[in-house]
Amino acid sequence: MQEKNVLSDNLSSLKAKIETGLEELKSSKELYEFKSVYLEGKKSKISELMKEMRNMAAEERAGYGKAVNELKTWAIQRFSEMEERMKEKELQQKYESEKIDLTLPGKETEIGNLHPVTLVINQLVDVFAGMGFEVYEGAEIENDYYNFTALNTPKDHPARDMQDTFYLSPEFLLRTQTSAGQIHVMEKKKPPIKILSPGRVFRSDDDATHSPMFGQMEGLVVDKGITLCDLKGMLDMFVQKVFGEGTTTRLRPSYFPFTEPSVEVDCSCFACGGKGCNLCKGTGWIEILGAGVVNKRVLENCGIDSEEYSGFAFGIGLERIAMLKYGINNIKLLFGSDLRVLKQINEK
Ligand code: DAH
Repeated sequence: MQEKNVLSDNLSSLKAKIETGLEELKSSKELYEFKSVYLEGKKSKISELMKEMRNMAAEERAGYGKAVNELKTWAIQRFSEMEERMKEKELQQKYESEKIDLTLPGKETEIGNLHPVTLVINQLVDVFAGMGFEVYEGAEIENDYYNFTALNTPKDHPARDMQDTFYLSPEFLLRTQTSAGQIHVMEKKKPPIKILSPGRVFRSDDDATHSPMFGQMEGLVVDKGITLCDLKGMLDMFVQKVFGEGTTTRLRPSYFPFTEPSVEVDCSCFACGGKGCNLCKGTGWIEILGAGVVNKRVLENCGIDSEEYSGFAFGIGLERIAMLKYGINNIKLLFGSDLRVLKQINEK
């Protein structure tokens, strides 16, 4: 009898231990460890109680066995409830730790903008494409013939001194002007011709307004009856689109071997409207490009009959236009890739 009481005390105390133990658990890991000590395997506390049956009298065994089994069923039930609770709790903790504060300001991604010279190229191409010009992109390495001789600038011509040239060999050079493209186009195509040729050119020249590499855009129109007047009309349209309504042009006599007559083109100062300011150095005018009527010799060099056809041509310095348009006073700023400068010019 004594023995039986001890055993049933064991059962109740084990139940109590499981009950309190379960309440103290903090994680599923602890729960699994606790479960293995009390419930699972041959050495668990409940299995130990089962083993006691061996020493019992037959009539006691059934009742005891039933009690242990009940305890076991109860324990299984409690552990699985606890497991559920623990999993739920840990899931909540996980959610809590991974919570994103949607009210925090986001990290801004910087979006780049086009380089000022690219903006100028795009705008010029746009304006001239609207007038029916096609784009021709020439090569940066040219031979002496295309860059000079065919443009009416033979070897001993003094105008060669105007363009300090990087020679790669006696024959090949880095083109000093996009005008070289005129010859390629006129050799391949018969008039009417209306092309625009943007690209890099190279000269041994270096100061605040000159760089050994810079961009130019050539324009060439060849057809029947083209005169300086057509050039003037087209330039007026061009400056109004690029520098604003009301801007006009004036032509000053100049000299280029490949044009006759040749002109230097000024536009009325878009900063002061022509009254005179720092930008136009008080004159009301700003020099923007060189142009002229295509020299008959150049047409003839390309096999175009100069009695039947005439043309005009112009060459624009791209960095110069960008500097004027965006108020940049040193050409080097356009080649420096300094974001403090480039970020300020953010035009679509
Ligand atoms: N090629 C000249 C230069 O680089 C610019 C130029 C002037 C181009 C007059 C032309 C032109 O087509 O007609 O200085």
